[in-house]
Amino acid sequence: MSNNSAVGIHDLSFATTRYVLPHAALAEYNGTEIGKYHIGIGQRSMSVPAADEDIVTLGAAAAAPIIARHGNDRIRTVVFATESSIDQAKAAGIYVHSLLGLQSACRVVELKQACYGATAALQFAIGLVRRDPDQQVLVIASDVSKYELDSPGEATQGAAAVALLVSADPALVRIENASGLFTADVMDFWRPNYRDAALVDGQESVQAYLQAVEGAWKDYGQQGGRSFEDFAAFCYHQPFTKMAYKAHRHLLNHVGLVDTDKDDVERAIGQTVAYNAVIGNSYTASVYLGLAALLDQAEDLTDRAIGFLSYGSGSVAEFFAGTVVPGYQAHLRSEANLDAIARRKQVTYAEYRELHERSFPTDGGDYSTPTETTGPFRLAGLSGHKRIYQTR
Ligand code: HMG
Repeated sequence: MSNNSAVGIHDLSFATTRYVLPHAALAEYNGTEIGKYHIGIGQRSMSVPAADEDIVTLGAAAAAPIIARHGNDRIRTVVFATESSIDQAKAAGIYVHSLLGLQSACRVVELKQACYGATAALQFAIGLVRRDPDQQVLVIASDVSKYELDSPGEATQGAAAVALLVSADPALVRIENASGLFTADVMDFWRPNYRDAALVDGQESVQAYLQAVEGAWKDYGQQGGRSFEDFAAFCYHQPFTKMAYKAHRHLLNHVGLVDTDKDDVERAIGQTVAYNAVIGNSYTASVYLGLAALLDQAEDLTDRAIGFLSYGSGSVAEFFAGTVVPGYQAHLRSEANLDAIARRKQVTYAEYRELHERSFPTDGGDYSTPTETTGPFRLAGLSGHKRIYQTR
C-alpha cells in the first residue's frame, strides 16, 4: 500500500444503556418549560446507566459485533478513549480486551482529552495502519456524562460507546490526510480526580467551542483542505444537538455564507442529530454517533465528503474530512442501532435520581451490583478494590 492508499473506518457499532429518562420527566420535576429542552437545547431523552453498567461494559458491548463480523486476528492495537475513566493507572481497554477474548499479541492504551479523545485515537490508528496495512486497530470511545443534580448541565447528560474498526481499504468512510487543529488553555469544563461529576462554566464552554471550531477550520484551510461547499454534511461534536446548529451557523458566518437558508443548514446537519437527541452527551462517542445517524438515514452518500468537527473542552478541536465508500450501505448496522435505542427501559425521575447518586463503597470489601443490564457484559461488583466483570 502506498502512503496515499485509503485508510479509514471499516466498521462502526454502538451501544447504549439499559435505562432512559425522557426530558419531559426532568422538566416536570424542576418546572422547566419543556420547549427549553426539546427546542432550546434539542434533547428528548437521556441514556442512564444501570448499576452494573459502566464505560467498560458499554465499550465491550459496542465492540463485540465488530469482532463477531471481522474476527480479531488482525487487531494488534486497542485504543480506548474516555473522559469518565474508572482507574488512574489501568486502561479500561484491558478489561474489554479480556471480555472480547482478543489475542495477547496486542497493545492496549487509554487516551484522554475530554470529548476529543476518540478523534486523537482515530488519527493515531490511521498512522498505525499506514505503517502496516495488514493490521486493524480497534478504537473504542465510551463515556458516561454526569453533571450535578439540579445544575444546568444535568439536561445534557447521557451515556454510550462507539467502536470503530480502522483499516486499509475501509468499507464505510475513507479519512483524508488534511486536518485542521486548534488548542487553547481554557477552563470551560473539567473534572478533578476526586469528583465523578464534571464542573462546567456552561456559557463559557459554548463560546470556547465556537472559538475552537473557527480555529480548526482556519487551520484546515491552511493545510490544503477542501472548500466548505464540497461537503454533503457535517458531523459536529454534540454535547446537545442544538450545539451542532450553533457551530455550523458560526462556521457559515466565518466563511461568509451568511445568507444560507434554513433548509441548507438542515440538509447539512439534520441527519446527524437523531441518535444524540435521544441518548444525550456521550462525550468521546458523540461525534461518531452523529456519523452513525447520518449514514443510517441519508439516502445515498456514495463518494460524498463529510466534514467532522471534534471538540474536547479544555480545549482541543480538529476538523477533518472523510469520503463515503461505494457500497457502504451493505455494512451499516441501522437496525441494531435503532434497537439499542428502542429497547431501553424508561425510568421515573425518582429512579433516575437514585441511580445518579449511587456510588461504590471505597473500603475494599466485597460488593455485588444488582443485575439490571440486558447487555452482553456486566460489572458484577468489586472485591479488594478490583472491578469484576462478567459475560452475561
Ligand atoms: P442554560 O444556561 O440553563 O440554558 O443551559 P440557556 O438559558 O442558555 O437556554 C438554552 C437555550 O434554550 C437558549 O437558546 C434559550 O433561548 C432556549 P440559544 O440562545 O442558545 O439559542 N430556550 C427555549 N427555547 C424554546 N422554548 C423555551 C426556551 N427556554 C429557553 N421555552 C447550557 C445551557 C449549555 C449552559 C447547559 O446545558 C450546560 O451547562 N451544559 C453543559 C456544558 C455544555 O454542554 N457545553 C457545550 C459546549 S462544551 C462541549 O461541547 C464539551 C463537552 O461535551 C465536554 C467535553 O468536551 O468533555 C461539554
